[in-house]
Amino acid sequence: MSASVITVENREDASQNLIIQRPASLSLQGRIRVPGDKSISHRALMLGAIAEGETQIEGLLLGEDPRSTASCFQAMGAEISDLNTELVRVKGIGLGNLQEPVDVLNAGNSGTTIRLMLGLLASHAGRFFTVTGDSSLRSRPMSRVVKPLLQMGADIWGRKGNTLAPLAVQGKSLKPIHYNSPIASAQVKSCLLLAGLTTEGKTIVTEPSLSRDHSERMLRAFGADLVTDPETNSVTITGPTQLYGQTVIVPGDISSAAFWLVAGVIVPDSELVVENVGVNPTRTGILEALAMMGADIQQENQREVAGEPVADLRVRSSRLKSCTIAGDIIPRLIDEIPILAVAAIFASGTTIIRDAAELRVKESDRIAVTAQQLNKMGAQVTELPDGMEITGGTSLTGTDVDSHTDHRIAMSLAIASLTASGQTTIHRAEAAAVSYPTFVTTLQQVCGDR
Ligand code: S3P
Repeated sequence: MSASVITVENREDASQNLIIQRPASLSLQGRIRVPGDKSISHRALMLGAIAEGETQIEGLLLGEDPRSTASCFQAMGAEISDLNTELVRVKGIGLGNLQEPVDVLNAGNSGTTIRLMLGLLASHAGRFFTVTGDSSLRSRPMSRVVKPLLQMGADIWGRKGNTLAPLAVQGKSLKPIHYNSPIASAQVKSCLLLAGLTTEGKTIVTEPSLSRDHSERMLRAFGADLVTDPETNSVTITGPTQLYGQTVIVPGDISSAAFWLVAGVIVPDSELVVENVGVNPTRTGILEALAMMGADIQQENQREVAGEPVADLRVRSSRLKSCTIAGDIIPRLIDEIPILAVAAIFASGTTIIRDAAELRVKESDRIAVTAQQLNKMGAQVTELPDGMEITGGTSLTGTDVDSHTDHRIAMSLAIASLTASGQTTIHRAEAAAVSYPTFVTTLQQVCGDR
């Protein structure tokens, strides 16, 4: 294998360009590991902070998003050990004991931090909180959590009719509700379950299809009185319910593994094994979609680690065919749609993605940005109001593209560039550190560039 040239250029405005020059022949080989699951990392820090006793977290994601969660909870009195060590220890302060912070809480780029935390803040009687985030987060809808919290009796104020951060929260005792969520959102579900922890009675959330269930699994492991009804996609938490510190072992993030799965499929003569990946069924839509497209991906060494299913994923280059991705599978692969669009460029026929309007309110408008940036490279992606249509079989040419500060867009473009002729420059590629700070190092490793 000849070495590709992958370089990072630091810019004066503190942004980074990732420059990828594909060599004449490239095949990807090796066994790799991806960083800890982002969703589980947030939840381990949060539940650890509000539990009684110590929580030990192995494999925590050291990305910018969980760091935002850690700093918010430290500002409210939780003691969290150095995040850069193998085992992170959180000294919990017990249910209902978050302290009033002396300054604005900053969730950075992280929707999970602000939305889950709002459930806790709103239910902390007698304390006042303000919370904000970066420019992306300040433009994302908060009404999806503010509305049901107001129904529970919460006092929350914010810009544009209480729909945008910065938000101010006067914590108080809430009343339980049964919320029929109009969207399948783990952030909405988890926010209300966390509000239900201190709320007397049964707080029930029903969602139209099942979103990731890490909160339910972890809340139960920490001792919460929580029941799920798979028939109706409902979760009931009965409060008040004390939590007790646990050991959490965070598996590798399937959303990060997805970049290598698609890279291994589309780059000819490749074989990669991604070890220790979380394969919770509420997250494996990407494996089902790639299987429908004909990808050769095997799950090996399947096991259960600390309440979450885990496997090693072996991927080999494959010939792909188009498919339609819509309906209940969407929440189970929502974060993988930009990289799935990259796979679809290499599939024969037209791949259709629908029922994914949620993508328009992620870290960027992922429908618009995915289409614009991949089309700059020569793809044929057409935007739909709630998805996209990708005509496969076009060849890609390296050019200047931009992440729009969205981590998943930055990494999807990097994987696309492995198949593009010439040189691709990905602007604002530093965004990858939100969920995958070691992405470029692993990219160099699988490309034989180091
Ligand atoms: C997340 C839930 C998903 C996902 C996000 C992480 C979580 O968002 O897109 O990256 O950890 O709960 P929604 O719940 O808004 O769909």
